Amino acid sequence: MEIKVIEETVKALKDYGRVSIAFRVETRFRVDEIDNGLGGFRLVEERVHPPYVKDYDCDKGEGPTRWRNQWNIDHWGVLSAFYGNHRVGGAVVAYDTKNVFMLEGRKDLAALWDIRVHPDFRGKGIGAKLFQRAVDWAKSRNCRDFKVETQNINVPACRFYAKRGCKLGAINRYAYPNHINEVQLIWCMSIG
Ligand SMILES: CC(C)(COP(=O)(O)OP(=O)(O)OC[C@H]1O[C@@H](n2cnc3c(N)ncnc32)[C@H](O)[C@@H]1OP(=O)(O)O)[C@@H](O)C(=O)NCCC(=O)NCCS
Repeated sequence: MEIKVIEETVKALKDYGRVSIAFRVETRFRVDEIDNGLGGFRLVEERVHPPYVKDYDCDKGEGPTRWRNQWNIDHWGVLSAFYGNHRVGGAVVAYDTKNVFMLEGRKDLAALWDIRVHPDFRGKGIGAKLFQRAVDWAKSRNCRDFKVETQNINVPACRFYAKRGCKLGAINRYAYPNHINEVQLIWCMSIG
């Protein structure tokens, strides 16, 4: 299957958002602490009853067309995957942007802000291609570090990032007051 990845401007975000980011949550990583954390943490995959669909775009204020309400996204990278004329996925990289907590005020750190592959096209290597293009985009802007946020309820994404060479850098069990059953996981990669 020939997939082309092209860079677009942020004007394409409306079309970008037409590819669903939703996924089915069937398992999650439970975070077990040993000796109140002094003995470490262990992530244990467990089934979720009943399974449900998570769609980040449905969270308040979220979704590709709303990002610009909160941040200046003019310098963000939009990478879009096409199968022929059919948009099948995309990745957005954030970098050098004021008030983006993830970016820590640094100019040599980029964050994979979003990655999504059309549900019918998942598991075919498109995500891996987008991820690599996102890393290359960050490298070409002299970034040395690359970060991505996900949650314990997105087991497929965690496995995907681990396979791409990311290391689990942070576990925050208190990051989401509106989703208290979700744990924030920050994956990191050195690209310098
Ligand atoms: C996560 C996502 C972008 C991955 O894209 P994809 O095109 O399905 O992934 P690929 O086919 O490129 O897979 C790349 C590798 O990750 C692994 N992987 C992908 N999905 C996986 C899954 N569900 N479980 C285990 N491994 C998985 C593949 O085995 C593959 O390994 P390989 O490189 O050794 O062949 C895609 O599944 C998606 O759009 N999910 C919903 C949106 C989402 O959760 N975005 C991330 C928000 S943080």
